[in-house]
Amino acid sequence: MNSMRNSDEQELIHLLSMARRVFVFCGAGVSAESGVPTFRGMGGLWEGHRVEEVATPEAFQRDPATVWRFYAARQAGLVGVQPNPAHHALAAMEHHYPAFLLVSQNVDDLHERAGNRQLVKLHGSLMETRCTTHGTVTALKAPMPLPQLERGELPRCPQGGLLRPNVVWFGEWLNPDHLLRIEQFLLAAEGEPPGSLLLLSIGTSGQVSGGYGFLELVSALGGRTVEINPEPTPFSKAVDLALRSPAGELLGRVWPQVGR
Ligand code: OAD
Repeated sequence: MNSMRNSDEQELIHLLSMARRVFVFCGAGVSAESGVPTFRGMGGLWEGHRVEEVATPEAFQRDPATVWRFYAARQAGLVGVQPNPAHHALAAMEHHYPAFLLVSQNVDDLHERAGNRQLVKLHGSLMETRCTTHGTVTALKAPMPLPQLERGELPRCPQGGLLRPNVVWFGEWLNPDHLLRIEQFLLAAEGEPPGSLLLLSIGTSGQVSGGYGFLELVSALGGRTVEINPEPTPFSKAVDLALRSPAGELLGRVWPQVGR
């Protein structure tokens, strides 16, 4: 359903034109138009398991092969997909604004492929492994081969340490360096002209930790706040402007009018 009014779109263009410090908070909805299923769009199930039961440290301790098969399938799902106009608009914004930070909950690699570098991957990355013994993070060039995992052969580092996906699981802490970077970025808005700071919340249900309080902090700093999501969320009532539209469709149309 698209019940967006033209005046809302004009307001978005106005806010994007005024902004100088832009903070984007993304969720799975940003990648939906690329064909990556959203977390809750999968019905919360994988092979009959609740996703919350597969994406935990306890599940990995109990049955690492099953957890790896889940992630190998998600890695394989990235092979044929491409960034969509929302990813491209966010990459262009990074060049356009004097201060820009993209904080994404997505573990896919579409933001990187679109070109964003001022990027915090809050929930980690599907295409990285981390050694459970040595902590070393390594980028994967290709998805983990499924036949190997199905034979029960687990991925290991050269010294034999068990590798895990470098993602944040339910019940795990976020990386404190990421939170510090976000806080510093937002607090730098203090003393800047009113209207400089803009938060865009795009394609997230806000179900994980209420969006970590970023919206509240931006509002407290006097920033403006926008949500882009075809469905209402807990953020919708709190933001200055809620746009009910698919992100790729909307940003693909609106950004070229701002970022000339
Ligand atoms: P969800 O799957 O919870 O929510 C996806 C959101 O995207 C929903 O609000 C949809 O309405 C919206 N959406 C769907 N299509 C869209 C489109 N074309 N444009 C814009 N929005 C669209 O995903 P997240 O909010 O990302 O955490 O979930 C956050 C976290 O919950 C995930 O990172 C994951 C999960 O638990 C961990 O794995 C730790």
